[in-house]
Amino acid sequence: MLKKNNPIKLIKYYNLINHNLIYNNKAINRYKKENFEISKDKVKDLTILKKAIIDLKNCDLRNQAKNIVFSDGNPKSKIMLIGEAPGANEDQEGLPFVGRAGVLLDKMLAAINLDRTKVYISNIVNYRPPENRRPTEEEIKRYLPFITKHIEIINPKILILLGSTAMNALIGSDVVISKMRGKWIEKKFGNCKTSVIITFHPAFLMRQPAQKKSAWIDLKMIRDKKTNLKI
Ligand code: URA
Repeated sequence: MLKKNNPIKLIKYYNLINHNLIYNNKAINRYKKENFEISKDKVKDLTILKKAIIDLKNCDLRNQAKNIVFSDGNPKSKIMLIGEAPGANEDQEGLPFVGRAGVLLDKMLAAINLDRTKVYISNIVNYRPPENRRPTEEEIKRYLPFITKHIEIINPKILILLGSTAMNALIGSDVVISKMRGKWIEKKFGNCKTSVIITFHPAFLMRQPAQKKSAWIDLKMIRDKKTNLKI
């Protein structure tokens, strides 16, 4: 047993057993935990979708990747973001946007009071293209039914498309991001009717920081929409 008046031993002991557990006197937010629970069907549908992607046959993307990158965030969220494709860090961890672009994405979300507990994130393709190249037309075509189904399952009220790959895949190949960003587009994906906004991809913003001004306009539009829809 510890002697009462031996602070060094006490510190060592607390380090050993992770003293945060003892000193963290924050109230337990049971409501938040409950709110994170999603309907059984959604869980089931997401599990089935993930398995269908894992079971894809003859897919070079899948065969060359380490991990599937399915999604991150809160499946119960009414805000869904879609990027292009996993990179090396994402492939390693099996989660979207965990590299440098992800750090900027988290900052963009924080600027409008959002974080990964409040949004849901996925990509157009679920495996890393070798050398971080853009997914080809053929690869996008192959994964399109999966991301469309993914949107339908999550059923977001706001859908944020990050960059031109996500935009061209889901809105049309004949549009350019400079004209399309910063506008609300009403769109249906299966049974999901949603307000779509296109903004610049965080990796693009790192290369072209002057475009952050436009991205900030888009973020404010998302913040206002969120307020109007009482999300
Ligand atoms: N870029 C993307 O489009 N998606 C990721 O998950 C990471 C980087």
